[in-house]
Amino acid sequence: MSHRKPLVGGNWKMNTDRTTSADLTRGVVDALKVQTDAEVVVFPPFPYLLSVRAILRDRGSNIRLGAQDVYHKPDGAFTGEVSVSMLKDCGVQVVLAGHSERRHVIGETDEQVNAKVHAVLDAGLDCVLCVGETLEQREAGHTDPVNQRQVRAGLAEVTGDMIERVTIAYEPVWAIGTGKNANPSDAQDVHAKIRKLVAHLFNQDIAERMRIIYGGSLKPDNAAGIFNEPDVDGGLVGGASLKVEDFAGIVRAAAASRP
Ligand code: 13P
Repeated sequence: MSHRKPLVGGNWKMNTDRTTSADLTRGVVDALKVQTDAEVVVFPPFPYLLSVRAILRDRGSNIRLGAQDVYHKPDGAFTGEVSVSMLKDCGVQVVLAGHSERRHVIGETDEQVNAKVHAVLDAGLDCVLCVGETLEQREAGHTDPVNQRQVRAGLAEVTGDMIERVTIAYEPVWAIGTGKNANPSDAQDVHAKIRKLVAHLFNQDIAERMRIIYGGSLKPDNAAGIFNEPDVDGGLVGGASLKVEDFAGIVRAAAASRP
């Protein structure tokens, strides 16, 4: 059994408003109380970071605050973008880089994702690097090369001391928001290959300690099967993270997946 503490992230994407983001935060805090067997992070939209943070603090929650994206430059004339120091100023502790919707809807390249990873790590925050193949890539038999390329590129020039703050999220694009999750053995297969690559790029010890989480149509009723795989260390949840009971159920499945 793995010694890695599972991590579950709730990626709210471009959902909620001022009222519902607060209600959701209070609901998740109350449902999970002090959760020690899994690390939990919520990723609200930028405008609600401060109000979500205030609720987490007022309630003494150990749920961490995450941001869905960042721009890699420290400041300047980049209209519409948000820097890592702004996120830090708002209490953000964890930042996603390279989510598939950023790659495929907005058009982010591997190089841009790598620059974001560096900005986040240089600022002392934790980073979740997202990778995953599209349906076309999967059907063409390119699942492994695509994920390997995105991991290599995303982690380029990341040093051994910084890698400790990186989690990799494997999110097959065809499973995101579609109701089609990867079956547990397929997810395990990709996770194990990613871990092997991390061992090759860094070392075995770092690979053993790195959390590799799964994302794509996670629900309370399919989470346990996926989280029980030895190389799956939790999940990144989209749609189901907007429903308190579903998200709490997924967190409980992650907490129960390790001794
Ligand atoms: P869904 O859980 O809605 O499929 O989204 C997964 C995801 O993209 C999390 O980042």
